[in-house]
Amino acid sequence: MFKSVDGVLHIEGISVEEIVEKTKTPVYITSKAKLVENINAYKKAFSKAKIHYAVKANNNLALMKIISKNGFGADVFSGGELYLALLAGFNPEHILFNGNSKSDEEIERGITSDVKFSVDSLDELYTISKIAEREKKEVKIAFRINPDISPKTHPKIATGLKTSKFGIPWEDVIDAYKKAVDLPNINPCGIHCHIGSQILDIKPFVEALNRLFDVAREIEKFGVNVEFLDLGGGLGIDYEGKGAPTPQNFSDEIMPVFKERVKELDSNPELWIEPGRSIVGNTTVLITRVNAVKKAYKNFVAVDAGFNTLIRPAMYGSYHKMAVANKMDEDSKETYTIVGPICESGDVLGEDRELPEVKKGDLIVIFDAGAYGFVMSSQYNGRPRCAEVLVDKDRWYVIRERESYPDIVGKQVLPESLMV
Ligand code: LLP
Repeated sequence: MFKSVDGVLHIEGISVEEIVEKTKTPVYITSKAKLVENINAYKKAFSKAKIHYAVKANNNLALMKIISKNGFGADVFSGGELYLALLAGFNPEHILFNGNSKSDEEIERGITSDVKFSVDSLDELYTISKIAEREKKEVKIAFRINPDISPKTHPKIATGLKTSKFGIPWEDVIDAYKKAVDLPNINPCGIHCHIGSQILDIKPFVEALNRLFDVAREIEKFGVNVEFLDLGGGLGIDYEGKGAPTPQNFSDEIMPVFKERVKELDSNPELWIEPGRSIVGNTTVLITRVNAVKKAYKNFVAVDAGFNTLIRPAMYGSYHKMAVANKMDEDSKETYTIVGPICESGDVLGEDRELPEVKKGDLIVIFDAGAYGFVMSSQYNGRPRCAEVLVDKDRWYVIRERESYPDIVGKQVLPESLMV
């Protein structure tokens, strides 16, 4: 879906040069065919599980609509994500409201929208019960357990270590279920965990699944009917060209354990998973234009996207493949460090990359930018956020307009005394 035609990067049938002429740069461009391919790979591999797309990875409505139309549920982490998921057509019955610090207002919105909750603390449990009683609703909940498992990923995206802020320690969670059983308007019927993100080794997932079953066995003893075990998201993708497990590889290791251990239970839970990155990550490229090439201590290529547009390299030292989108067939000649326009030394997108000779005006393509890309962008340094485009065969659509300077003013209000 991403290929060179006469040296110019094409996404499906469309040249990136054609797109940027209209949208300007930077711009995120998604291939619909790639997204559908990823969705189908998950559907095939996990035909017996329920897949909840993790909206935080990419909350563009067009992409979410494609995903919801395919029958996926959604994992949301805030009132705002819930709002977007409902707008994108996800069935509330298949929305799980996650989050470690939900406000009372968010909880109320979740309850009145009839979604299920992953509960992160006893304080949250009591609040849900109180609001549910007032609203005369029964709320289905899972507790998010902290399984104390290392997923072998970047420390900032490991979420199931015992030192992590997420979830209830798995040794303490049994008591939490006991409390939940006795509370009005609460139906504890699931168990949830999420051990981290960009995980390339499946073994920690198997360990986490085993923990979920251990908890299930305990809570069944006092009458909980376990309807779902949610293993969270986290399957990694191949950023570096070194390979990554596919949804099928993931399923091949998980499903046999699930099928075996479910026999120990009286209840008959579904398996749930919450992939984000592995659905959208490789569907999208970021195209950015070269403003200047400078020989200094290093060969710097200064482009118009920085960590305001894609924060992953600056935040986690993440690697994204790059190429010159208008020189796809040229051999690499030089080593360049690709930097953004932000007034911070950490604004580096890629270090020491071998590329063809780069000139002002060239287009740099940053691959695998569909997950945690636009959603984590900001207006820092007074830069409007960029556009997003969806390509469908030989047609393309702007699915988010590029912001303009008035959007930077946004909701700011001047006190009357400063109006003159
Ligand atoms: N479920 C829960 C409860 C999560 O917290 C997350 C991600 C997911 C599912 C989806 O995980 P995925 O399949 O996308 O790995 N900004 C970071 C990633 C943060 C992930 C946060 N939680 C990055 O750019 O690498």
